[in-house]
Amino acid sequence: MRILSGIQPSGQLHIGNYFGMMQPMIANMHHSELYAFIVDLHALTSVHDRAALERGTIEAAADFLALGLDPDRCIFWVQSDVPEVAELAWILSTLTPMGLLERCHSYKDKVAKGIAPSHGLFAYPVLMAADILLYQAERVPVGKDQKQHLEVARDIAIKFNNTFGETFVVPEPVIDDNVATVPGLDGQKMSKSYGNTIPIFTDAKALKKRVMAIVTDATPVEDPKDPDNCNLYNIYKLFAPADRLQEVHDLYVNGGAMYGKIKLELVDLLWEHFREARERQRQLLGDPGGLRDILRRGAAKAREKAAVTLDLVRERVGLKY
Ligand code: ADP
Ligand code: TRP
Repeated sequence: MRILSGIQPSGQLHIGNYFGMMQPMIANMHHSELYAFIVDLHALTSVHDRAALERGTIEAAADFLALGLDPDRCIFWVQSDVPEVAELAWILSTLTPMGLLERCHSYKDKVAKGIAPSHGLFAYPVLMAADILLYQAERVPVGKDQKQHLEVARDIAIKFNNTFGETFVVPEPVIDDNVATVPGLDGQKMSKSYGNTIPIFTDAKALKKRVMAIVTDATPVEDPKDPDNCNLYNIYKLFAPADRLQEVHDLYVNGGAMYGKIKLELVDLLWEHFREARERQRQLLGDPGGLRDILRRGAAKAREKAAVTLDLVRERVGLKY
């Protein structure tokens, strides 16, 4: 099975990214052909600061490796090191209906959040389709917010195949229902662009500050509460051991759940959960040259695969005269 996913180097990695995408990718490392990459061309739709993009790219590489991605067991690279993807994106854009892109929620949400509505932002799903189709990926692990983009990629693949003959594998999304959307501090989807995240790689003081800021209701301690409607519980359950989770669940249902205490427990759980990864990330960031070498080696492997698909595509559409 060929599995592929990417992440934008546009901010601090958070637990939504971890459960939505990184963990499922890393879990597949031992029994699949894995393609993992850092989508810096996509990040250009929102980051126009050279230093921030460079730093973000190196940090994203360190984060992925620190969390357990083994570059010898997968292909791991930076998107822009394989320029073939931009050519494929152009070819695909010539058969992407405008209506398909006009319906994309992500574009509308980002514009509503103040990101400039550039052509690149509008065409973002076409580049994402090119990312996926270029490597003939079969499965794409993502959070629920990316589901519509996967549908766009599938529609484009089918349209291309119908127009020019069987060329692309039609990819399937992999979305784990239990963690499809990790809530943020305010209960909306956790997202870098909403400023409501719990970052993975942060110091103890900042972590505690974030967790204590999780929004909870004002119901008195002794009143029964619905755990499934509680933002704090929905984050806590991702980290708590099963027996303790059951106890806390019962406190919600029967009364007696103390938000402050649960938050402090959550701080400790998070700190322990990512302890080793934090240490590894620090070491990796101490050797940016080593990280660049890993990424360049990955790009060379990815480029070989990309060239095969692009050659076929060029032939199919009539660019090889
Ligand atoms: P952000 O919304 O913070 O900018 P990205 O768009 O970079 O995050 O997402 C990277 C990956 O993490 C994608 O696969 C996305 O679906 C997943 N992801 C992001 N936020 C969440 C969340 N709150 N819950 C589950 N998955 C998420
Ligand atoms: N759009 C994705 C996100 O914001 C990132 C991405 C770009 C991606 N290309 C991809 C994810 C290809 C999976 C496959 O999270």
